[in-house]
Amino acid sequence: MRLTLIGTGYVGLVAAVCFAKLGHEVTAVDREQVIHGLMESKLSVWEPELDTLLADTRDSGKLFFDTDVARAAAGADALMIAVGTPTRVDGYTDLRQIREVLGHLMQSGICPPLVIIKSTVPVGTCDELEVSLHAAGLLTEVAYNPEFLRQGSAVYDFLEPDRIVFGCKSHHAETLLRQLYEGINAPVQVCDRRSAELVKYASNAFLAMKISFANMMSDLCEGYGADIRQVVEGVGSDQRIGPDFLKAGVGYGGSCFTKDLKSLLTSGRLIGCSLPLLEATAKINDQRISRMFAKLLSIWMNPIGKRLCVLGISFKPNTNDVRDAPFLALLSHCQRHGIEVHAYDPVVHYVPADGVNVMDSPYDAVRNADAVIIMTEWPQFASLDWPRMIQHMRLPLVLDGRNLLSDEVIAQIIDVNGAIYMPVGRSIDQHLPK
Ligand code: UDX
Repeated sequence: MRLTLIGTGYVGLVAAVCFAKLGHEVTAVDREQVIHGLMESKLSVWEPELDTLLADTRDSGKLFFDTDVARAAAGADALMIAVGTPTRVDGYTDLRQIREVLGHLMQSGICPPLVIIKSTVPVGTCDELEVSLHAAGLLTEVAYNPEFLRQGSAVYDFLEPDRIVFGCKSHHAETLLRQLYEGINAPVQVCDRRSAELVKYASNAFLAMKISFANMMSDLCEGYGADIRQVVEGVGSDQRIGPDFLKAGVGYGGSCFTKDLKSLLTSGRLIGCSLPLLEATAKINDQRISRMFAKLLSIWMNPIGKRLCVLGISFKPNTNDVRDAPFLALLSHCQRHGIEVHAYDPVVHYVPADGVNVMDSPYDAVRNADAVIIMTEWPQFASLDWPRMIQHMRLPLVLDGRNLLSDEVIAQIIDVNGAIYMPVGRSIDQHLPK
């Protein structure tokens, strides 16, 4: 098939190179500056395997780039839209980028027989977009094909999905969509567009709810001296529940969960449908940093003039994305209390904010610090030389915001005279080897 794909963020670019890898002829479209970078193989997104796939598909003559929507759409069998749909502060989803693409199609009078929306959009959006196109005389069909890509494993998630969902009306659209995904071995669900739009939001909301459930239970564990790691191991062993997304810590970040929850809550408000489980999910997540900060102050007492070493700026490992990262919420707490932050992250080397110095190594970042806090579960933090880390500190206080450190490493830390280790969801002496 000939596919035109609009938007080359981490979803659009991964989709473009993967569809090209499947043998389709793909033209990816974005703004001049972005395309110029891609033509020079400069990736704006940090995704494992993406650079290799980009080079291979370009060399094989399957992947092309353009900056003009109408020109790229001419002659295509389908046009896929994977542009950003951020949630505004008022909770409404900003669909301007999608409408801009449709504007180009309407202006040119050129539109393939199938327009596939991949961006996350509120329920009912595809119906509205199709009405707009028909009103402009473009008798195309709009289908919805949600993405379930996790940053840091987006290529894997695209090629090895748990399921593929098509929201479409006609058999012809379904046939084209199935052709597009030929070669990917996964269950295919075909349903109406509105249900497909809601599958995306409901999936993210449920994953976020699992995380907040684990964090709510960790608060109870701290109060009763239980161990959240043992609790979630026992709960997650139930096949009906599953072990994933039950790790307690400083909470979820990233551009999806927070945005999608806000958008879903807005969709509920619009029709007078309350979504209390989602309100609670967001509230529990918002409390995480305050709880962590209270632990810090319980030892420091006076925060003025203190220095905090923060390990982890990105919202999760294997990405350079800091959107809605828990680090940012912690940084604003520190700025309000006059606490100096020295941070280290394996891939994020700059933060455009006052009061934070991003250092080149964790050992530099921890020097003369009054505490160190693990904010992102980068695996390399678990294998640092922790006795060396804490010997450089003014106050040997370690807050493990992701319960990342092993019992052996914890024992090394608390062997150091005066050192304190503070985990999440268990009391300090819970973890000592028996
Ligand atoms: C998520 C969804 O997983 C994906 O399906 C959707 O398409 C996009 O949003 P992503 O935001 O990339 O993917 O990251 P994810 O791996 O889901 O982690 C999100 C956040 O939750 C991270 O900050 C992570 O640290 C946190 N998290 C994850 C927990 O706090 N506990 C867990 O057990 C799992």
